[in-house]
Amino acid sequence: MKQSYDLVVIGGGPGGYEAAIRGAQLGFSVACIEKRVHKGEPALGGTCLNVGCIPSKALLDSSHRYEATKHELAEHGITTGEVNIDIAKMLERKDAIVKGLTAGVAGLLKGNGVDWLQGWGTLVDGKSAEKQVKFTSLAGEESTITAKYVILAAGSVPIEIPVAKTDGEYIVDSTGALEFAEVPKRLGVIGAGVIGLELGSVWRRLGAEVVVYEAMPEFLAVADKEISKEAAKLLKKQGLDIRVDTKVTNAEVVNGEVVVTTDVKGEVKTETFDKLIVCVGRRAYSEKLLAEGCGIELTERGLVAVDDQCKTNLDGVYAIGDLVRGPMLAHKAMEEGMMAVERLHGEKAQVNYDTIISVIYTHPEIAWVGLTEEAAIAKGYEVKTGNFSLSANGRALAQGEGMGLVKVVADAKTDRLLGMHMVGVGAGDIVHQGMIAMEFVSSIEDLQLMTFAHPTISEAVHEAALSADGRAIHA
Ligand code: FAD
Ligand code: NAI
Repeated sequence: MKQSYDLVVIGGGPGGYEAAIRGAQLGFSVACIEKRVHKGEPALGGTCLNVGCIPSKALLDSSHRYEATKHELAEHGITTGEVNIDIAKMLERKDAIVKGLTAGVAGLLKGNGVDWLQGWGTLVDGKSAEKQVKFTSLAGEESTITAKYVILAAGSVPIEIPVAKTDGEYIVDSTGALEFAEVPKRLGVIGAGVIGLELGSVWRRLGAEVVVYEAMPEFLAVADKEISKEAAKLLKKQGLDIRVDTKVTNAEVVNGEVVVTTDVKGEVKTETFDKLIVCVGRRAYSEKLLAEGCGIELTERGLVAVDDQCKTNLDGVYAIGDLVRGPMLAHKAMEEGMMAVERLHGEKAQVNYDTIISVIYTHPEIAWVGLTEEAAIAKGYEVKTGNFSLSANGRALAQGEGMGLVKVVADAKTDRLLGMHMVGVGAGDIVHQGMIAMEFVSSIEDLQLMTFAHPTISEAVHEAALSADGRAIHA
């Protein structure tokens, strides 16, 4: 093992591994330190590949196919025999996808000449020109590595709440909810955020009765109000029992069942479940990352403090991804990783935080980019909006997906597009059109004047833009 590198990256998640690869491409000698052991094997890819984005999407896909095969084929005139699901097989498929991808990342690091150090990294001295990182191997051996530059990319872990302590069996976090060996008959979920909606949907589609408790009075308050209202309607219709304004005051396991106590405006109730998922957000993970006196400043919320370019208070030390401010999203972590390395290389890379896309991978998907109508008004814009319902989109109807809507938000004075929001089939892909349009400072008129292919879901973007000026044809 080498003792000195140009760049040491601590954390091999999407932020860290992309930074490491980009660093090697730019000619740095690079080590990436990652301590994760997944299913008995050291693994790169972080939360996202091992227990986040990828396994959750694998289960979302399996459960969607199951539900669609069971309930949606008859109207096409397709008959099947009895439709069953083998949960063990479904989990095996998920694990194989994860393994393939994490092995792929290991191959990419190797191919680019990045040394993957399997163990813990701790920044000991970030102030000196030659930074010191303590490396503790998985076997517990300690050594010191020096580096010109360090990127901190240690990610995040689930927030725990005292009223519902996880036990790994009955009361679980998102990682546990990816591993249920059988479909719970009744599943409780604390938190109607991204994880609650995605993993709640997985197990509901497979047959669980799902109750989602949300402490806030409003459902999906981060989204545009019209979109969250439509999404709530669609998800409730599917059978997700979402209860807003509901505080869980206690959850405990009694005789193999989880008893949940809630308080709704003073009315105390108890309900029992086979399993309970706690998904109330995640927090930056800096334990063992920063030695006392290493010099790094943290924010009040325990994030590593950085500027708009992810530079910490120390020269030559950057921090990226879930460890720092901004949305906890893999694509944000990746772009920050590339920006940090390119800046260390002397380039002027930037991330445009105004165009980071959010996607909730329910069916249909909920996705947006830019400002909601409410946020645009709060910022002082004179706002105009346009909506188009997928119930009037030919392609959506032909696919049996005529639900949801596209909404555009624009500055009424300049016509500039400020945001695009959608609940509907393929929303996560469609809103990329909004992102590209915003990056090129497009106007609503630009979107009106372009020719969208027929019949496509994208035509709803065109019609939403037309509707912003009262010109929609099919509304
Ligand atoms: P991480 O991926 O958390 O990686 C950090 C790595 O650093 C970890 O592997 C950790 O083991 C390692 N590490 C920590 N400390 C040390 C140390 N001291 N030494 C060595 N190694 C260390 N985001 C999306 O954009 N799309 C999605 O669909 C999506 N789905 C998700 C589903 C779930 C269930 C969850 C939990 C998250 C999901 N996310 C999704 C969020 C996404 O996983 C994170 O935003 C992303 O992984 C952050 O990347 P990162 O590189 O900052 O950190
Ligand atoms: P979240 O922040 O999305 O949602 C948490 C929800 O729990 C919020 O609605 C909050 O009001 C509620 N809540 C908080 N405390 C509560 C309590 N005590 N009782 C009841 N409700 C409570 O967090 P989540 O779902 O845990 O996801 C964590 C992170 O992972 C997110 O920030 C997200 O960025 C990322 N993620 C992204 C995905 C994607 O991009 N598709 C998928 C899954 C996770």
